[in-house]
Amino acid sequence: PTPRDIPLKVGIIGAGAAGLYAAVLLDSLGIEYDIIEASDRVGGRIYTYRFNETAWLNSTPDDPDYYDYFDVGAMRFPGMDYMARITGPYNNSLIPYINAHVSSPKDKVVQIPYIYTANNTFRLYNEVLLYNQVPPTADAFNTELTDNGTVDAQFAQLDPTKVWASVTQKMTAALSETFTAGFNLLMDYDYQSIRSYLVSQGYTGPQIDWMETIDDATDHYDMYSMSQGALTQWIFTESSIDNWTCINGGMDRITYGMEQIISSKPILNSPVTAIKPASGGQLSLEIDSGNSKKRTYAHVISTIPLGALQIVDLTELDLNYGQRHAIRKLNYDPALKIGIKFKTQWWEKLPAPFKGGQSYSDLPIRRSVYPSYGFDLPDDTAPGVMIASYIWGQDSTRLGAYLRTPEARDTLVKVVLYDLAAMHNVTLEFIESEYLDYYAWDWYQSEWSVGAFAIFSAGQYYNVMPSLMVPAENGHLHFGGEALSSGHAWVIRAINSAYRTVLEVLKAEERDDLIEKLVQTWGPMNEVDLGWYTHI
Ligand code: PHE
Repeated sequence: PTPRDIPLKVGIIGAGAAGLYAAVLLDSLGIEYDIIEASDRVGGRIYTYRFNETAWLNSTPDDPDYYDYFDVGAMRFPGMDYMARITGPYNNSLIPYINAHVSSPKDKVVQIPYIYTANNTFRLYNEVLLYNQVPPTADAFNTELTDNGTVDAQFAQLDPTKVWASVTQKMTAALSETFTAGFNLLMDYDYQSIRSYLVSQGYTGPQIDWMETIDDATDHYDMYSMSQGALTQWIFTESSIDNWTCINGGMDRITYGMEQIISSKPILNSPVTAIKPASGGQLSLEIDSGNSKKRTYAHVISTIPLGALQIVDLTELDLNYGQRHAIRKLNYDPALKIGIKFKTQWWEKLPAPFKGGQSYSDLPIRRSVYPSYGFDLPDDTAPGVMIASYIWGQDSTRLGAYLRTPEARDTLVKVVLYDLAAMHNVTLEFIESEYLDYYAWDWYQSEWSVGAFAIFSAGQYYNVMPSLMVPAENGHLHFGGEALSSGHAWVIRAINSAYRTVLEVLKAEERDDLIEKLVQTWGPMNEVDLGWYTHI
């Protein structure tokens, strides 16, 4: 039979943002599907941890118990047009769409401001503690040569954040003007690491290291392509920081909302172990769960991270070498978060208090993130949750080592409390007296994610990713997920990849009518995320 004779049912692997959004799209086109999820949870790298799940279940947005959480995965949306497919304002943007379709008002997804920067948060580098509003020059932190540091006197007067902004200015402006053209410009620099590009622009090793120390994670400048660096800079700075949002009650309100409105609910605890050709050009999924058998579909959309896909048996499939190579090679960054529950929101009562924002340091915890939620409670003596450490790259690989045994975890908590005390100019005794509980999660050690998000190394956008932006197995196996899109590490990339895979299904089926319906209902997709930049 030709593909069009097969009943069109799609098997979606993974119930994260990409898998759920693919389901939303397929529902709107009247196409049947199953979502097969390996873990016992819907949401993937959207994951809201609640210190007391039972109390939360009985709470309302007016109770402190409602805010007893932190977002372990995705936690914030820059207020840029590029995110509009999720955050609005259009009726077909995901959040408004969920809100128009959930049956219970309490399932509505509420966006609130995400406070990215606040005055009076801290920077602690080289044992010098300053307020965040002080420009982080090498001079201010005594890291210049004359202070027995490394940075030359002239560069020591410059704000590294501004230097990085000026280095990337041409590229970010091009992205703002026309995303596709800007992306194509970035491809001219794709073969270079951030460091090698900065060297080519005349910066010295110590200058580059100081920039990386202030602006990025340890070793990111060595590991990532200049194109990736410019894209990241564009997303972090394109819109005013006043326009960022997060979700009141946790990001999982989005994945929960999608789960409520889709017609076929995810099948949990069902790791796919093999994808094999089946009769009539179909594909079968072998699933490693007590009772479920093989499932056969006309199309399969894989949305799982490539590290997880790597252990799925694909040997009987017709993949080309570029595809096998890309699955193994494309780089995922480590990231972890350590959330701590304190007796009070003590940071809102410091001599110079603040709400939201982040503090930064060269200590192991590197970055703390204060909650942007729970501000309007009548009782401001309620417990508070903050992200004591949110880190990437080598910072995360290193602290992650201390999560492996209970003894090492005890050590880690001590280190975190010690760093917090130093970073906030309070005593260790004070921090210890406030401490209630912690929850730590390392995305690289999690078997279903095997990495936090894709961050590509030199050459990977240009030479490696393109092979997975097209289907395999005669147009029936589709590769989605946050990695296979224009910039990674944001929920929009998962969502955009899902759109592409659904479009691929429709193309393989030669359903021009449904392609038109997809574009009409959900809007067009930019060319880069459709994989078309590879043909330019
Ligand atoms: N989007 C994530 C954040 O808000 C992660 C990210 C890390 C994005 C590094 C780009 C680069 O922190």
